[in-house]
Amino acid sequence: MPDAIVLDHPLVQHKLTLLRRKDTSTAAFRLLARELSMLMAYELTRGLPLQTVTIETPLETTEAPLLAGKKLCLVSILRAGNGMLDGMLDLLPSARVGHAGLYRDPSTLQPVQYYLKLPEDVADRFCIVLDPMLATGGSVAAAVTLLKQAGVTQISVACLLAAPEGVTHVTETHPDVPVYAAGLDRGLDSHGYIRPGLGDAGDRLYGTK
Ligand code: PRP
Ligand code: URA
Repeated sequence: MPDAIVLDHPLVQHKLTLLRRKDTSTAAFRLLARELSMLMAYELTRGLPLQTVTIETPLETTEAPLLAGKKLCLVSILRAGNGMLDGMLDLLPSARVGHAGLYRDPSTLQPVQYYLKLPEDVADRFCIVLDPMLATGGSVAAAVTLLKQAGVTQISVACLLAAPEGVTHVTETHPDVPVYAAGLDRGLDSHGYIRPGLGDAGDRLYGTK
């Protein structure tokens, strides 16, 4: 199996099963994607450095840890990546947000870029790329390339479901970029859909089909 960091927490696995079900409503799908993303944010930020500061509690002066160093930027791959934004922002409210407009050409399965907006200081930030579905990995690999071209040096990927083919593609193209997933599925079908999967994440989030 390729190298993804799969979150084995029971809450993550339970919510992912509910997300996959075909009879999960649009409203429930959105809420579950948000909750899963918040849980993923906890794991993705485990390595953030801390500094010790002096504070006053109501009772005394003490030393206590605060986050130090690089600030964060969440980069959503439109449109389905937006389904992971609010959950991440629940836990990381000061993070900046970038948007990469990429859609997958249905016949070639190649990513097509139509938009890019990143914070001016993105090169100084730890970027987390959000895309619920890592299928062939083309969209995520293209987004990571765009970030590197913008000067970003620390990047992680967060997806809800990954296919082994996609993880292999991303980790071979960008070996310095860890891939976090709530689930790692069997593989891709002939249309590039993840199996067993959850269907089209954008359509399920926005009710477009
Ligand atoms: C879907 C999904 C990913 C991409 C994954 O996007 O949201 O971005 O496909 O496929 P890949 O790993 O093979 O590149 P889609 O093109 O359907 O666009 P949408 O998010 O606007 O629905
Ligand atoms: N995009 C999706 O939304 N679902 C898949 O299974 C593959 C790509």
